[in-house]
Amino acid sequence: MTILVLNGVNLNMTGRREKDVYGTQTLRDINDRIEHYAEKLGITVKFFQNNLEGELCTAIQSAEGKYDGIILNAGAFTHYSYAIRDAIASVSVPVVEVHMSNVHAREEFRRNSVLTPVCRGEILGFGANSYILALESFLL
Ligand code: DQA
Repeated sequence: MTILVLNGVNLNMTGRREKDVYGTQTLRDINDRIEHYAEKLGITVKFFQNNLEGELCTAIQSAEGKYDGIILNAGAFTHYSYAIRDAIASVSVPVVEVHMSNVHAREEFRRNSVLTPVCRGEILGFGANSYILALESFLL
């Protein structure tokens, strides 16, 4: 099983931005942990982060036939990107939406995700462990 871990806008700043919300681990640290965990589960993981909406759409489109699933933290795009939503809807690869923070306990605008309706499921609020839980969901 091969899973693509896709991170969107500002996730490259993890560990440096809003540490009280997102923690002090960098995206590299988090990805290393995911990779280590995936190895134990016998899952191959690939990683991609980009700040541009179109790049994320291209990554999702290109995942068709190549990956068994996508773990997606689209960052703020989650709340308004119909382009990413349409990209997810255009492929048969299951996408699990992930957020490190509990978006429902934060600002009003974060409560709505335009992506959730086209995702297989959503995991949020467990910090970097949200990615690990998402990984496990592909084994259920
Ligand atoms: C986030 C939540 C989003 O609202 C925010 O814009 C992010 C990170 C999270 O992982 O908690 O950039 O997706």
